Amino acid sequence: MFHTPIFDFEGVPRTIDELIEGRPTSDGAGVKLTRVIGQSLHQRLDPFLMLDSFTSDNPDDYIGGFPDHPHRGFETVTYLLAGRMRHQDSRGNQGLLEVGSMQWMLAGRGVIHSEMPEQENGELEGFQLWINLPSSLKLSDPEYMDVPNHHIPEYQFTGGSVRVLLGESQGVNGPVQRPVTDPKLLDIHLHKGTTFQEPIPHTHTAFFYVYRGCVRVANIEVLPGQLAILSHLEGQSLLELHANSDAKVLLIAGRPLKEPIAAHGPFVMNTQNEIIQAVEDYQSGRFIE
Ligand code: CO
Repeated sequence: MFHTPIFDFEGVPRTIDELIEGRPTSDGAGVKLTRVIGQSLHQRLDPFLMLDSFTSDNPDDYIGGFPDHPHRGFETVTYLLAGRMRHQDSRGNQGLLEVGSMQWMLAGRGVIHSEMPEQENGELEGFQLWINLPSSLKLSDPEYMDVPNHHIPEYQFTGGSVRVLLGESQGVNGPVQRPVTDPKLLDIHLHKGTTFQEPIPHTHTAFFYVYRGCVRVANIEVLPGQLAILSHLEGQSLLELHANSDAKVLLIAGRPLKEPIAAHGPFVMNTQNEIIQAVEDYQSGRFIE
């Protein structure tokens, strides 16, 4: 799909409130990754709970993968840019994530799954985003969807291209729409010198992560590996991004839930008692019923 011209939105652009550097850590069976969003940003980036970035061409960094582990109370989105990952879960779902594909999972009341690299060498690169669920959906039935590379909607314009993973952009709908949190996840590829615009209501949390090249919002430059949290003053309705070099950016936005958050590892609920219940349910095997 080719759009031209496109970026003629009127409105006040949002500015950058803060730049965040990811924190190197490891998870699963010793997978080295960068935790871009962790627990300290739960309230501020509501409804988003976590963003991990993993990239390595050293198998020692990823080969252990993420063996069986539980989730309850939120959704996960995994987007793979290089390598292969095999998913298997307690609901009997199985899928192979390949280059350019994504997986959406609603953990709801409980899923146990594994996410294992299916390669012994070469590069593995991707992202995992966690999106909180409203209290009314935290104990809903789990759901799961694999979206292969060629099924991800993409539009092109003279200055680049955009892959629409969640939500909508330029009238192009991504494969997953969630009505309560209305999440948007775009993989934006820009040529040097391009200006990109995306309308985002000021009431929505919004941030972007640069994974290649360098971009600018107003006069603030954002480098690879940096997360830019956008301001949300009344009247601001737009992201306006300038590419200082060829650049690749993940843009994430959504409607805050404004509910209490009680988080304990892979369980994210509203109260401590619900966390205790989640641990009990997991330990007594109720996640695999
Ligand atoms: Co998982």
